[in-house]
Amino acid sequence: MYHKPQARERPDLPHYGPRGLPPTECLLRVLAIESSCDESAAAVLDRDRGLLAHELFSQIELHRRYGGVVPELASRDHIRRLLPLVQSVLASSGTSPQDLGGVAYTAGPGLIGALLTGAALARSLAYAWQVPAIGVHHLEGHLLAPLLEAEPPPFPHVALLVSGGHTMLIEARAIGRYELLGETRDDAAGEAFDKTAKLLGLPYPGGPHLARLAARGRRGAFEFPRPMLDRPGLEFSFSGLKTAVLHAVRATPDLSDTVKADVACAVQEAIVETLMAKAVRALEQTGLDVLVVSGGVSANQSLRERLTETVGRRGGRVYYPRTEFCTDNAAMIAVAGLARLAAGQHDGLAHDVPADAGPTHHGLSQHGHIRGGSAHEATAASGLAIQARAQWALSTLRPLPSTIDP
Ligand code: KG4
Ligand code: ZN
Repeated sequence: MYHKPQARERPDLPHYGPRGLPPTECLLRVLAIESSCDESAAAVLDRDRGLLAHELFSQIELHRRYGGVVPELASRDHIRRLLPLVQSVLASSGTSPQDLGGVAYTAGPGLIGALLTGAALARSLAYAWQVPAIGVHHLEGHLLAPLLEAEPPPFPHVALLVSGGHTMLIEARAIGRYELLGETRDDAAGEAFDKTAKLLGLPYPGGPHLARLAARGRRGAFEFPRPMLDRPGLEFSFSGLKTAVLHAVRATPDLSDTVKADVACAVQEAIVETLMAKAVRALEQTGLDVLVVSGGVSANQSLRERLTETVGRRGGRVYYPRTEFCTDNAAMIAVAGLARLAAGQHDGLAHDVPADAGPTHHGLSQHGHIRGGSAHEATAASGLAIQARAQWALSTLRPLPSTIDP
């Protein structure tokens, strides 16, 4: 799947104007690169003119026959795809290196080899162009994706982040100020979609396929557990769902397409209802009335309809990214990168990092998380301070200066 370049300038694309972004005189157009999993993507975002270009190459076909992402194949393909994508977004947005105020890239969490391909390219370009680079937290990218829309969500809000690897409820007080309210104890919601889809013989990644099949199913034909709904708190657990589906599939000798659609419908119901109940609980607990839903599963139409209706009935409002920015993309990395660059945060200019020094990463190494030598970190070239992190707690992100309480 290859999305053609955007037109040189897209008046229809919304202007980027996140709240809490401090005014700055510096040149603020960023190039962003995403390579944390199986999508290679690049984007150019301008603080005043909005999103100028974004492109993506999905590796789905490459991994399909293995039923999941093969990390080594992902890394190799990112190496092939990223530079042409970067060249293309620069050309289609009419951006030359002198126009750039920085280069943003996904520094983690994700597949370490895949992350390093984007980190190496971003930091090398920043070094060559003598502009700052900023390593972005992939989940902060997802959380801020709705800021690209014409009506961005206000802060504070409750964020429901539902992707292939994460299911979290977060109190987002401002850009960079995220408090984890609850998360999954085992499988993520996207994983639950994917694993149950696999049991029904659907291709990888199963989420969208299962959702399409569910639309043809009869409600109530099957009933699967709504895990942890009967308990207080904001934690999730989805691993029991695949066992329940496995039993149902085994107990049904004739797994016709109609029965599969019924199973898919019940799976989707169980996941959607669980997410909805906990999201409403989080709104009640925090006293907030704005819910932001992001990550791959936020593309699910049933989830969107049910949440919009339920939260609306309570007098609240739900915000989502447009569908193409629910799953991984570079536009969301550009939003997070631009917000941090605008606030003066960056990884340090590559040319002033001595060869024996750890990365300065002014924004994110505050608590020593980048500097350490943990097994989840990798330094490919210390002089350029190219680093990525397979694991990275969202709570360790530094708030933007403008959002720190006086
Ligand atoms: O955010 P994302 O692109 O990647 C991660 O950072 O994990 O999310 C991918 C996940 C996959 O599990 C995929 O099956 C799921 O999002 N997904 C969906 C839908 N579209 C994508 N799940 C349910 N319904 C959808 N329409
Ligand atoms: Zn993601």
